[in-house]
Amino acid sequence: MSVAKSRWANDDPETEAIIAQRRREKEEKRRAKVEKQRQLEEASRVPAPTKSADTAQGVNGDVGPPKKRRRLSNDPDAPSAADEVLKSEEPKKQSSLLRFPVSEWGPCRHVDNFERLNHIEEGSYGWVSRAKDITTGEVVALKKLKIENSPDGFPVTGLREIQTLLEARHPNVVYLREVVMGNKMDDVYLVMDFLEHDLKTLLDEIREPFLPSEIKTLLLQVVGGLDFLHSQWIMHRDLKTSNLLVNNRGEVKIADFGMARYYGDPPPKLTQLVVTLWYRSPELLLGADKYGTEIDMWSVGCIFGELLTKEPLLQGKNEVDQVSKIFALTGPPNQQTWPGFRSLPNAKSLRLPPTSASPAGNPPLLPRSRFPYLTNAGLDLLSSLLALNPASRPTAQQCLAHPYFREDPRPKPKEMFPTFPSKAGMEKRRRHHTPEAPKRGQDAPELDFAGVFGGAPGGDSGEAGAGFTLRLG
Ligand SMILES: Nc1ncnc2c1ncn2[C@@H]1O[C@H](COP(=O)(O)OP(=O)(O)OP(=O)(O)O)[C@@H](O)[C@H]1O
Ligand SMILES: [Mg+2]
Repeated sequence: MSVAKSRWANDDPETEAIIAQRRREKEEKRRAKVEKQRQLEEASRVPAPTKSADTAQGVNGDVGPPKKRRRLSNDPDAPSAADEVLKSEEPKKQSSLLRFPVSEWGPCRHVDNFERLNHIEEGSYGWVSRAKDITTGEVVALKKLKIENSPDGFPVTGLREIQTLLEARHPNVVYLREVVMGNKMDDVYLVMDFLEHDLKTLLDEIREPFLPSEIKTLLLQVVGGLDFLHSQWIMHRDLKTSNLLVNNRGEVKIADFGMARYYGDPPPKLTQLVVTLWYRSPELLLGADKYGTEIDMWSVGCIFGELLTKEPLLQGKNEVDQVSKIFALTGPPNQQTWPGFRSLPNAKSLRLPPTSASPAGNPPLLPRSRFPYLTNAGLDLLSSLLALNPASRPTAQQCLAHPYFREDPRPKPKEMFPTFPSKAGMEKRRRHHTPEAPKRGQDAPELDFAGVFGGAPGGDSGEAGAGFTLRLG
């Protein structure tokens, strides 16, 4: 792909509004073309075939926006409501040439078209509910967008979630069916395919960790979805197990595009306060304002570690403690493993002990004792994803080609994946006691590193790291 500059190269809401307007106009033109094509097809009495979710999204990653009308059924074999309508209109079509088809691209439907069944997460503010489409009877997930009003009343940042999700049609990305409105301008809801689980809830529920073959199936799908996002110049910026949805067919879908955005080459200046703390990369923690898709790859490393142990890998209490926990796992950075880390804003005052010896390899291998059941290939992949130096992390595409996925045991076929009772489908899902994603639009806090390493207040006392201590000064 050769897009030179991001469409989102700056965060100026006015520019973004103009860009959004242009995109909408382009999209409308495209839809008009599709509608014209459909009318031509109808005129020649060739009925359009029904599209299932998977075919509409592309089966093997070869994707694009849905080419035909909107999908109305989850069941690929079931005739959709639209098909029924088409069938009943068949005789009329034969007798009359002049038709005025009702465009389906009118105003958004009202949220009253959905009956709310239950909130999915207990303790949350009811942002995501399981709901039933009253017209079709289909069960969907309804998410109320958190829209902060911008000064001109145009909720640009909230629209990013819609815009990136609309463009991200892929089997491993949650399917956005439509956007519906409540009574107010900022009552905007996403209607998505409903999935029975999220990976965090699943990991909490299962007694034993996933089998290596199951971990590979899950991870391959996450990285496959991410590879697609990155190929579309979308950074997710909040990958974590609670944002990965899993259904009872062993399919994983990336969700929650609340922090996602387009990026460019060279990367624009971006907000540093992204990604939930436990999944946040060292360059973000050390204050980098230029960063790229490597931040998502770091989060994938954290998710890989969590799949192996069933526990979040790096549970820092605050930013500084998070850095300390990272260095305890990876060993501290040095000029060989991470050239240039010193120039990051928060790293300037970091004083590492001169004698600190880093483990061999570049990036160094993580301590085998932490992952005793992982093969050498697996440890190699995990270590590279959790490389301190972003440049040493593999891209999603490189990750997919890693020998770990080709060695035995092979990834388990999705059809063989175990099924689990759904928490979201019946009772509420237990609210996870994990850090939340940063709030949009906030600035990164001033980090006070002083006194944290070595057990002073503010950090995790007793955290001496992997045989080293860190001093700031
Ligand atoms: N399509 C869906 N099907 C089933 N459950 C879903 C779906 N989308 C979201 N959920 C559930 O709702 C939870 C919150 O959704 P999401 O992460 O999109 O919202 P959020 O408001 O950004 O939440 P948070 O701030 O906690 O990350 C998910 O962790 C998942 O359990
Ligand atoms: Mg979320």
